Amino acid sequence: MKILMVTSEIGTIAKTGGLADMVAALTRTLAANGHDVRVVMPRYRFIRRETMVRHEAPLGVPMGTSERWCAVYETELGAIPRATVYTIEHDALYDRDGVYGTRSVPFFEDNALRFALLSRAAFQVCRALHWIPDVIHCHDWPTALVPVYARTLENRTEFDSTATFFTIHNLGYQGRFSAADAVEFGIPAPELEKAGVVVSTGLNFLRGAIKSADCVTTVSEGYAAEITTPEFGFGLDSEIRARGDGVRGIVNGIDYDEWNPSTDPYITPRFDSDSLERKAEAKRSLQTEFNLPVDSATAVVGIVSRLAEQKGFTALCGPTGALNRIADEIPVQIVILGTGEEWIERDLEQLSAARANVSVTIGFDERLAHIIEAGADFFLMPSEYEPCGLNQMYSLRYGTIPIVAPNGGLKDTVKQVDPATTTGTGFFIAPLDSDGIFDTVRRAVELRSVSPDAIDTIRLAGMAERFTWQRSMENYIAAYETTVARVRAAGRDGISP
Ligand code: ADP
Ligand code: GLC
Repeated sequence: MKILMVTSEIGTIAKTGGLADMVAALTRTLAANGHDVRVVMPRYRFIRRETMVRHEAPLGVPMGTSERWCAVYETELGAIPRATVYTIEHDALYDRDGVYGTRSVPFFEDNALRFALLSRAAFQVCRALHWIPDVIHCHDWPTALVPVYARTLENRTEFDSTATFFTIHNLGYQGRFSAADAVEFGIPAPELEKAGVVVSTGLNFLRGAIKSADCVTTVSEGYAAEITTPEFGFGLDSEIRARGDGVRGIVNGIDYDEWNPSTDPYITPRFDSDSLERKAEAKRSLQTEFNLPVDSATAVVGIVSRLAEQKGFTALCGPTGALNRIADEIPVQIVILGTGEEWIERDLEQLSAARANVSVTIGFDERLAHIIEAGADFFLMPSEYEPCGLNQMYSLRYGTIPIVAPNGGLKDTVKQVDPATTTGTGFFIAPLDSDGIFDTVRRAVELRSVSPDAIDTIRLAGMAERFTWQRSMENYIAAYETTVARVRAAGRDGISP
């Protein structure tokens, strides 16, 4: 199939979270299976021109009542030549250090325009290449206007047989803007309203995609069920329920070339299930790297995370938060790597300043993330909600036992440990609050000290799990095919999502 991915993040080119991993891995797997898959994204300042090929013709993108002129720079995603990435250069909007914002300005005030341009440019790139895809697959609010354009300004064009496919990676980020921002989109007000973007408070990009895309999916079956409820629906649960075809969950895989303890270039030593004893050395490397006392007896609990409320930091932080109590009352070392909201960064720094058994690194660092996955005994993810989550799957592969919230993709990918039968791959936190986190970590650490063999069995069970992209990709292909068939049979106007 011919598939265009439109995205704000991908792989190591531009990454703030799991969206980048997911889009890169899905793209690579599609390409490896012979599909003609290409990618459109912005050329942010940190994506260097020098390594890319510039298209000769400039790209005119109609916005508002005029056109915005862009350059297209082409590159390849990783080693597979067929996954071409077209980056859109438009310095007024993209020549910045961050994807959505910077440390001083967490959310650029012109993000509505920045990502509307990306969405419209996707169509123009295809036109310029004379390459009309079977599917345009877009992801999260930054590309949510793609299906909206398909139903409005791009209706009855050469894209009429192209299915629009939208994946929700996180319903908590919706792209809410003021109504005035819509002037730049060029979409007549009644059409914008019909496409679902207009809400009482202004604009909501994600709502537009949910109401306009030919198919909507999310990144686990658990989360697909949760977002139909007010508790997890972030105000859009009724729109999700209203889709006649439902919102299907397709769980993410992980990239086992990148996350493999037997070949990982970032860790020393490497190990696998047949050399699990070497994981103890990887733990020593971790303790050395993070300035923790080198001590094999003490359990190490790791966290690698965006520092956002979603990830459970309300229950973790503060004087009565779980981390304080875990650090002081349970014999553990805690190692945390993350960047994000300032109050969380400050709280974690305070936590570590006063304690020898806590090491906190504020920053985004791929290498350190691998060292933590390899060396820790447990990986803590008490997310308030988790659409899929990747770190728990990385942890399983590295024999690091996940301690997770019982929700979303975490529930779908981790199996509850039963100490009586020594089965399962991780621990579920219950209840999901500060006490519950504390108790679950305490139980896990206790099991490790009274029954190291049971812990090894649990580690090995986790290491044997495989969440392959091949399987997830096949589910995407099946969904693409059904959607393309529906669009071709009924026409886009004939499908009311
Ligand atoms: P989310 O996308 O909600 O942040 P995921 O678990 O899906 O959560 O993916 C997070 C990804 O980002 C993982 O690959 C994780 O290792 C990575 N990551 C998050 N924070 C950091 C950090 N500070 N340094 C390095 N990698 C990080
Ligand atoms: C989002 C979600 C995360 C998911 C990732 C990739 O950022 O928060 O749970 O794993 O997207 O789909």
